[in-house]
Amino acid sequence: MEMDFLGETVIDEDTISRRVEELAQQITGDFVQAYGEETQLIVITVLKGAFIFLSDLIRLMDMDLRVDFMAISSYRESTRSTGAVRIFKDLSESIYTKNVLLVEDIVDTGLTLSYILRNLVSREPRDIRVCTLLDRVGRRIAPLDIDYVGFQVGEDFLVGYGLDYQQKGRNLRYICRLKTPDHDS
Ligand code: IMP
Ligand code: MG
Repeated sequence: MEMDFLGETVIDEDTISRRVEELAQQITGDFVQAYGEETQLIVITVLKGAFIFLSDLIRLMDMDLRVDFMAISSYRESTRSTGAVRIFKDLSESIYTKNVLLVEDIVDTGLTLSYILRNLVSREPRDIRVCTLLDRVGRRIAPLDIDYVGFQVGEDFLVGYGLDYQQKGRNLRYICRLKTPDHDS
């Protein structure tokens, strides 16, 4: 496979899986503690980047849960966020009065997540919490409270474990940086 855009590894496979397991236990424990053993959680993911993280995370969560998906287009120019977001696939079920966990791959400027969060909160879930695998807090524009963070990351554009570079590299088991970053900084 031609993957000459890949730079060095930033987070290896073992480190990811250990952290995903910790997050799964923490999230399950927190929701069970807050709402009891029988509580049901709706886990929502914004396609596509978080689908690998989601699938590993939920298989380690020992509780009653359902999964739902949204798809948005965020009008990114190359690797840079413009802030405008349009939902082109909405949830298939209502989240009204439900406990919700929103799972993200990476929060960069925070513009995408803050838009989605406002939209979901307006549907009046009972509780909504956010879990992101990666947090690039140094580029945040929209202030956000993120409940669960896998790893803090720096400025480099990252690829692998669901994250893509021009749709490529999502299937890597680890996370690496781009060899020739065109990420604005
Ligand atoms: P934000 O609106 O600037 O926070 O952008 C968040 C979205 O941009 C993420 O959900 C990713 O889809 C994408 N993104 C941001 N940084 C990266 C990266 O380093 N690699 C791959 N995708 C990224
Ligand atoms: Mg995303």
